[in-house]
Amino acid sequence: MQKPWEGRFKEKTEEFVERFTQSVSFDKELAFWDIKQSVAHVKTLLKAGIITQEEAQSILQGLKDIEESILKGSFEFKQELEDVHMNIEVELIKRKGEVGGKLHTGRSRNDQVATDERLYIKDEILQVCGLLRDLRKVLVKLAENSLEVVMPSYTHLQRAQPIRLSHYFLAYREIFLSDEERFLRAYRSADYLPLGSGAVAGVDFPLDRFYTAELLGFNRLCRNSMQATADRDFVLDVLYACAVCGMHLSRLSEDLILWSTEEFGFVDLPDRLCTGSSIMPQKKNPDVLELIRGKTGRLYGNLIGFFTTLKALPMAYNRDLQEDKEPLFDSLRTIQDCLTGTKLVLEGMSIKADAMKRASGGFTLMTDLANYLVLKGVAFRQAHHIAGSITSYLIEKGKRPEDLTLEELRNFSELYQEDALELLNPEKVADRRRTYGGTAKEELVKRIEVAKREEGMK
Ligand code: ARG
Repeated sequence: MQKPWEGRFKEKTEEFVERFTQSVSFDKELAFWDIKQSVAHVKTLLKAGIITQEEAQSILQGLKDIEESILKGSFEFKQELEDVHMNIEVELIKRKGEVGGKLHTGRSRNDQVATDERLYIKDEILQVCGLLRDLRKVLVKLAENSLEVVMPSYTHLQRAQPIRLSHYFLAYREIFLSDEERFLRAYRSADYLPLGSGAVAGVDFPLDRFYTAELLGFNRLCRNSMQATADRDFVLDVLYACAVCGMHLSRLSEDLILWSTEEFGFVDLPDRLCTGSSIMPQKKNPDVLELIRGKTGRLYGNLIGFFTTLKALPMAYNRDLQEDKEPLFDSLRTIQDCLTGTKLVLEGMSIKADAMKRASGGFTLMTDLANYLVLKGVAFRQAHHIAGSITSYLIEKGKRPEDLTLEELRNFSELYQEDALELLNPEKVADRRRTYGGTAKEELVKRIEVAKREEGMK
């Protein structure tokens, strides 16, 4: 098999070198985008008068046929031909003869690979954003259906203050909205056309790069041929967006794993999304959630690994850059799987509202016993101290706040009146938090309305 670059070589390539330097085993993922950009390149060559109409026709037909073979699965990618770019080019020449050799005019694999990757990333990001949107819709639906469910919120994983469960779901909806924004920023950084930059210095044929950009749907052009071929910041941006989103999914998974334990008993995960133990017959394990949590490690690894590869690379293209592909493909595949898994779990789990409610009372009510005094003019620190004393009194007596009588309260402050006892109800306490973004039902109803509008659910 002749290599397109073998003209200046006198020795056959070592087999090890072929195996070690090849990228086709993974960059064939870019085949579709490579062909798409070649089509645009052919049209640009034609416009520049470098190839004739007939030559362009013949190359385009050849590319179309190759695309069909790839889709059918009959295209044989060869390791000796290194990467997806050379595999397709050599096949084109095989099918169309000499004219196929004109395709690579005014192009280098250096601007070619960067173009393929940018096209690929833009498309993948739109798919990730679609999954994020689906997940947010599920969260909004859950929020709408859980307005009447109260639960404790946690700080330091200790019960903190009662909230409505909707508040929790809406929190994650906000978080996944910020993930979409992060992915869209990565989209914008990928949205620059490198093609027409050549290997490093630009191209000596009159290629209309603005025309190429238009054909490929790029909104901007890389404005310097060295930057165009050396820069992989757009890859880092996606890897970062994937890592952050994975971290969010991991935190959500951790909550659900805890909530599904016998100790919490807040949710029940459906059998179809759990697995069993080979030795302990009673077990139903939340493996999907655990793997989502676990995969965050590789998302971080992909980011840090490739970030490190980029360090100290001299200007401009270096073969080290080939190391961008496996982490890139892996992160995008992983994040899409994790988003799909999370959605399945959220849709499938059942909520044990009684257990949540039971846990939401008790000492989570103490902040409000302090704030009651604040509203009567006591300084917050003083009020906090009094409520702290009530807490230790209750702990000593083995009682819960709901057991308090007015007399007991008044032993701590004369300012407590009959209405203070109403505070010993988690729903009421939640509904006092009426600030914008708080957990009060009337506020949540508004937030759900806005969320539904923003997600196009009404
Ligand atoms: N497979 C290479 C990569 O992924 C394509 C560019 C190769 N360029 C070169 N001059 N060897 O980076």
